[in-house]
Amino acid sequence: MGRVLSLYRSSVGKKILMSVTGVVFVFFVIAHMVGNLKAFMGPDHFDEYAHFLREIGEPIFPYGVLLWVFRIVLLGCLAIHALFALQTWWTNRAARPVKYAKGLQPEESTFASRNMRWGGIVLFLFVVAHLLHFTTGQLHPDFVPGAAFRNLVLGFQEQWVAGLYIGVMFVLGLHLYHGVWSSFQTLGLNHPGYNRYRRPLAALVAIVVFLGFAAVPVAVLTGTLSLGGRG
Ligand code: HEM
Repeated sequence: MGRVLSLYRSSVGKKILMSVTGVVFVFFVIAHMVGNLKAFMGPDHFDEYAHFLREIGEPIFPYGVLLWVFRIVLLGCLAIHALFALQTWWTNRAARPVKYAKGLQPEESTFASRNMRWGGIVLFLFVVAHLLHFTTGQLHPDFVPGAAFRNLVLGFQEQWVAGLYIGVMFVLGLHLYHGVWSSFQTLGLNHPGYNRYRRPLAALVAIVVFLGFAAVPVAVLTGTLSLGGRG
């Protein structure tokens, strides 16, 4: 317990916990992106996949239970990630009440790193709205429980909604770019032999995630994905 408390209090401990929870999100985001791309394999395939997510872990776990375990782990990670982000923000403000003058930011500062907190806030608000849109349906124009493909296509047929998703995926890409780079450093991959790969690797993750997620709303906007009379 003492060890856990001192990890919590130290700023290195906070960074490690932020990195570890961030890595959990990176795996979730990549798995979710790959899952979404199944929409290109057709409505039946996509709906079957959405159903499979609820059956995952059966028969060891009852229907839907393992999905709830994943949800609780993700929520726990979100709580830790957000709490430490807020604390770091607060401590930095107290330590440096005057903003850096333009051009005098720390050496490793990039547009992405300077905007982590805004990115985090946008992503948090997005996830809340996104759950109400595609999971529970309150923000959807015509939600039918279980009809995942239909909900997806109808949801993105509203052009501004598809545009908003694409914009948020860009913000996600930027957040991941700095987050992945920074966690390589925190989690000990800060080795002279590997350092030159850290930025390109972080950029690769960011670009793949942005393009992979944006593909679905773009495909609905261009008519590549449609209900084809099945609506
Ligand atoms: C274009 C981008 C995205 C699309 C098309 C999309 C699509 C979907 C769909 C269709 C569902 C409902 C699945 C079902 O209930 O069967 C879902 C659930 C979810 N999405 Fe996304 N998503 C996108 C981006 C994201 C991002 C960037 C995040 C997180 C940062 C995210 C987090 C979630 C979460 C947490 C759930 C609920 C999973 C659950 O608990 O059942 N999504 N998404």
